[in-house]
Amino acid sequence: TTNMIPVLEHLRTIFDFAISSSFPELENPPTTITQVSPNLVKFGDYQCNSPLALTKILKGNGVKCNPKEIAEKVVSNLPKSDLIASVNVANAGFINIFLSKTYAQTSIKDLLLNGIPNLSLEKHRILVDFSSPNIAKQMHVGHLRSTIIGESICRLLEYLGHDVLRTNHIGDWGTQFGMLIAHIQDEFPNYKSVSPNIGDLQNFYKQSKKRFDEDQEFKVRAYECVVKLQKGEPDYIKAWQLICDESRKEFNKIYDRLGVTIKEVGESFYQSRMEDVVKFLERQQLLELDEGRKIMWTSEEKVGIPLTIVKSDGGFTYDTSDMAAIKYRLHEEKASHIIYITDGGQGGHFQLIFACAERAGILNPKTQHVRHVPFGVVLGEDGKKFKTRSGETVKLLDLLDEGLSRSMLKLIEKGRDKVLTKEELEKAQNAVAYGCIKYADLSHNRINEYMFSFDKMLDDKGNTAVYLLYTYARIKAIARNCNVDVSKPNIGNLLKSEQISLEHEKEFKLAKAILKFPDVIFKVYTDLLLHFLCEYCYELCVTFTEFYDNCYCIEKNSEGKIIKVNNGRILLCESTILILEKCFHILGLNPLEKI
Ligand code: ARG
Repeated sequence: TTNMIPVLEHLRTIFDFAISSSFPELENPPTTITQVSPNLVKFGDYQCNSPLALTKILKGNGVKCNPKEIAEKVVSNLPKSDLIASVNVANAGFINIFLSKTYAQTSIKDLLLNGIPNLSLEKHRILVDFSSPNIAKQMHVGHLRSTIIGESICRLLEYLGHDVLRTNHIGDWGTQFGMLIAHIQDEFPNYKSVSPNIGDLQNFYKQSKKRFDEDQEFKVRAYECVVKLQKGEPDYIKAWQLICDESRKEFNKIYDRLGVTIKEVGESFYQSRMEDVVKFLERQQLLELDEGRKIMWTSEEKVGIPLTIVKSDGGFTYDTSDMAAIKYRLHEEKASHIIYITDGGQGGHFQLIFACAERAGILNPKTQHVRHVPFGVVLGEDGKKFKTRSGETVKLLDLLDEGLSRSMLKLIEKGRDKVLTKEELEKAQNAVAYGCIKYADLSHNRINEYMFSFDKMLDDKGNTAVYLLYTYARIKAIARNCNVDVSKPNIGNLLKSEQISLEHEKEFKLAKAILKFPDVIFKVYTDLLLHFLCEYCYELCVTFTEFYDNCYCIEKNSEGKIIKVNNGRILLCESTILILEKCFHILGLNPLEKI
């Protein structure tokens, strides 16, 4: 069988070979292959632009020739390949490449018989640090972005066969616990025997913060509480545990609703390892005293900013916990890759951590790979930082609730409440609400800031979750409506007698869109930019719609009775479904049979 392979990558290899054999005197000649936009395919499905660059290089070597001659030479050296139907040379020196229909047919058939292609790579152990909210403080939209992007990146890496450690680096060990514990002692004196119902932790945090800022005596007590907590005194640990449990309940509600799986390994986990890492750095004489603090520079030259490893009061910092964490992850967890997903503002922090880890011999960049994956801030529709009308930070659970009610309104507006059963409607409500929140985030280049707008994300036209969910359900309905059994065993039967027909231009166009999937996955994997996958999904759905509008899968007579079913086309529909389902899974969308 011809497995579905990354076409672009293979073409690159083929042209690499042709170019090197045409110009053996050149070292590493450039090979660039690009995908041609699906609406310009009369110039080929793919294009090789290397002859232009080669002309310049040869000219530099004193050899005169024009791009067209070079292109012709390259073409004459092309090895035979099942992928290519034909090539031609444009006057400007581009090489236009047309994909083979037979290749398309065999690989679509393979997709139908064997399921989604297995794109497994060499297996790595990859730790993904994402979500990571702070206890007692608000989990805000920034954490929501990290949660959504992180979950999708984990799903992508798992699809590629990696061993993924989903890690929640919760801020559960900061100085905020001093005042929270002191406040618990006053408000719930019996907390040791009767677990108090703290209820609204946000409010509790605000109250204690107010006392902390206004009452000098309370402030002193709060600091003492931090010290006792970090020493591990049981009563203080108990109070700390109560607060963490309360926060955790909230976080888990959000993760459950969004279908996120993550393991908590918070800052507190590193207490003893922070003590150890300080000693470890001290032994190597990498720490320097600076006004009572212990700091570490990234190099002997002491340029830039140092990390603060120990504060003047002896306490540890965010820097300390990240130094302990990177050491633990690389050496105890034995991760070979770590990915940190936070807002771009923390980029500087991670560069310092990576540089210091390398300097201390914790990180060996030849074999261990650490990477900060930043994202931009979330803006409200007014273009300012995302806030409620009264200017407070938006509670995530409220936001998800609003998504639910808005999605129901949308479904009612489209009259779906009259067509769907109660259960189907509720399923649709959830899929649309959470799907659109995730998709709006993922479909924007994560590096940029993005504007949160329910109106835009719930639109059913354009590149939105709603449009994709509708298209998917429409494709699902085709086989259902004409009673074709598309279960796996029966697809095998159908394929014995049926050819995947690619005669019609729109059929072939759809097949070519399907075949782009492996290349898209590898591109998304390299850049960790999920909006390329969203764009691909959208293109696939638009191409499907074009196909469906032009090529009858089912023919009906004037009374609406089915008179003919085109099984070859139904199979093309099913292969679109397979690809869409994989994309939806990575993007966290729940596909619906009916909507
Ligand atoms: N808790 C931090 C915050 O809310 C994010 C932690 C990210 N991970 C890390 N290893 N520093 O900003």
